[in-house]
Amino acid sequence: MALRNIIQLGDPTLRKKSFEVTDFGEKTHQLLNDMKETLIKADGVGLAAPQVGVLRRVFIIKIEDLYYECINPIITKQSGKQTGTEGCLSVKGKWGEVTRPNKVTLKALDRNGKPYTVNAEGFLARAICHEYDHLDGIVYVDKASKVEED
Ligand code: CO
Repeated sequence: MALRNIIQLGDPTLRKKSFEVTDFGEKTHQLLNDMKETLIKADGVGLAAPQVGVLRRVFIIKIEDLYYECINPIITKQSGKQTGTEGCLSVKGKWGEVTRPNKVTLKALDRNGKPYTVNAEGFLARAICHEYDHLDGIVYVDKASKVEED
C-alpha cells in the first residue's frame, strides 16, 4: 500500500467527470488499498478517486467501524432533507453548511465487481452524497449556503 497525494480545489481534475470502472483486478484493488491508507492517514470520512487524481467512479467511506468501497455507484432513491456541516480533504481548513437528502439508497459494486445495496440515513447518507458528487466534478462548496475558514 502507498499513500496518494490528495489534490486541492483549483486543480482541474476535481472538476472532471469520472469514468466507469471495468477492471476489478489488481489495479483497482491497489487503488482501493491506497485510498484507504490515505483516508485513514488524513483522518477523513470519505475519499473519492478523483481526489487522488484518478478519474474513475470509485469512492470509499469510513465512519468508525463501518467501511464501504463503492464502485460505479448509483443513488437509486432519496428522501427527506438534512442540513449540516461538511468539510472535504480537497478543501483544507474550510467548512460549509450543506443541505442533503436525509435518506439514500445506493447501489454499487464491491472490489470484485459484486453488486450490493446500502440503505443509509443521517450522516452516512450525507457522506455518500458528498463522495458521489466528486465523481461528477462537484465539490461541496458549490452547494454550501456558507463556507467558513477554521
Ligand atoms: Co470531498
